[in-house]
Amino acid sequence: MKHLVRSSGPRRRRTLAILPLLAAALAAAGTALVVTGTANAGTTLGASAAEKSRYFGAAVGTYKFNDNTYMTVLNREFNSLVAENEMKWDATEPQRGVFNYGAGDRIVSHARSRGMSVRGHALLWHAQQPGWAQGLSGGDLRNAAINHVTQVATHFRGQIHSWDVVNEAFADGGSGGRRDSNLQRTGNDWIEAAFRAARAADPNAKLCYNDYNTDGINAKSTGIYNMVRDFKARGVPIDCVGFQSHLGTSISGDYQANLQRFADLGVDVQITELDVMQGGNQANVYATVTRACLAVSRCTGITVWGVRDCDSWRGSDNALLFDCAGNKKPAYDAVLRELNAGTNPTPTAS
Ligand code: G3I
Repeated sequence: MKHLVRSSGPRRRRTLAILPLLAAALAAAGTALVVTGTANAGTTLGASAAEKSRYFGAAVGTYKFNDNTYMTVLNREFNSLVAENEMKWDATEPQRGVFNYGAGDRIVSHARSRGMSVRGHALLWHAQQPGWAQGLSGGDLRNAAINHVTQVATHFRGQIHSWDVVNEAFADGGSGGRRDSNLQRTGNDWIEAAFRAARAADPNAKLCYNDYNTDGINAKSTGIYNMVRDFKARGVPIDCVGFQSHLGTSISGDYQANLQRFADLGVDVQITELDVMQGGNQANVYATVTRACLAVSRCTGITVWGVRDCDSWRGSDNALLFDCAGNKKPAYDAVLRELNAGTNPTPTAS
């Protein structure tokens, strides 16, 4: 017979303190003791984030799913996943009207089997389009793009916590305007049309706009801010903004203020692709991002763009939280410390 001990908060600490005695007494009586609550609270990224009502996720690739070290870290540390490439247009609709969801389904299935949430990335983007779409323009491309959004969001309906509906549609540099692309050339309303199609296909998914080099108050982030403000004013369905946060060796002093100004528009903010150039300041930069997300109530979670340094698109930047052997780096300790700040994490009984 099992005694189930479910506890949390101060009572949890008292309960855990007497657990060894209780376990011994119950064992003597032939009874096992099972402690539940937030498994591994305070001792893993996902569990610690969950204690603060956030998720802590990672971008994954199915080509790594046979790597034991990779999967051990992934399954232990993260409570949210996003497909690094498997849900992009080139992967899911390699030929017009021919959809391939196998790899994306595999990631969703793994996540759900582990109680992890799933971010969807990305329904429309100027990059990684299948060749057939790159050759389209005007109304034909617009129809193909909106059909793609509808078909993919419908396929994954009910399984995606947040979709990157549109990725990287604003230009770098000082214009604050849209990036030129085949999608932009179908008309300025393509982003709005994509969000409306995604809402119709999956009413329960949070719909996000996602971009990079927006990690502070600048022309690009302000251009996006103005779009979100217009969308909210006109009732265009948008629920969140993703800040990729591919960072160097420093972070803008107005990083948190930028997140807050978007939250004040009435949308969630999410750190969606975090990685930080390794160097003397990596741990501090990771800590600053974590602290900022915890300080902004509508910051719902952080995703790092990969599991180990050797899995990263950034190669020798060594930009992630684990080395290739799966060892925790100082940046990991800094993030966990920030996630646990203000609480007294008590590791669960073994
Ligand atoms: O699938 C092909 C494979 O068939 C071929 O043999 C191989 C060698 O050419 O290439 C494979 O495609 C690669 C793809 O990743 C899947 O592995 C592409 O060459 C490669 O360019 C692509 O890189 C991805 C990149 O987006 C593409 O722009 C990275 O893994 C991925 O981390 C990166 O992620 C983006 C986000 O989606 C958006 N934000 C920026 C971020 C970093 O660029």
